[in-house]
Amino acid sequence: MLMFMDIVRKRKSVRNYTDTPISDETLREILEAARLAPSAKNLQEWKFIVVRDEQTKRALVEVAKGQRFVGDAAAVIAGVATYTTYTMTNGVPACHVDLAIAMEHIALAAAEKGIGTCWIGAFYQERAKELLGVPDDCLVVALMTLGYPEEELVPEKKPRKSMEEILCWERYC
Ligand SMILES: Cc1cc2nc3c(=O)[nH]c(=O)nc-3n(C[C@H](O)[C@H](O)[C@H](O)COP(=O)(O)O)c2cc1C
Repeated sequence: MLMFMDIVRKRKSVRNYTDTPISDETLREILEAARLAPSAKNLQEWKFIVVRDEQTKRALVEVAKGQRFVGDAAAVIAGVATYTTYTMTNGVPACHVDLAIAMEHIALAAAEKGIGTCWIGAFYQERAKELLGVPDDCLVVALMTLGYPEEELVPEKKPRKSMEEILCWERYC
């Protein structure tokens, strides 16, 4: 059984996938992590569209500015905010935060199962909505590819800033 930090270290952006499909059961288990994610006021104003249809995935490649691996993934999940006008007291739109949390839950739940993911932010909003039948007043916050990786997921050193660069105690530094 993997511990939380093992999963965090194992998750990385995977852009090379095998042809192995992901079962409905496995996808549901992964999506359960999104369902249980926190959201502002617990509004849960979200939908998760699982795309496995080959033709739709091919169309998503174009929506995602030609990122070819999008079409190779076993599934693409669109994280859709269904209520986009609520801004929190802090001035931050809640739906951006809510969907980011839920989608990262998906990425981590997938990593635990040895399934690779990649966040996709480089896509055309209106074209994504049209392709997936998303209502105008919603927002596709992110797409995420999922698939069994060509190379097994193993924890590796990530190119990240040092703790000293990002950590402040008590006041901004
Ligand atoms: C919000 C967001 C949007 C991203 N969009 C894309 C994308 O469109 N295409 C892509 O290949 N990677 C995308 N990435 C992946 C990042 O490039 C990647 O997470 C980062 O380089 C760190 O690498 P790692 O995920 O392997 O740890 C995105 C990541 C995030 C968090």
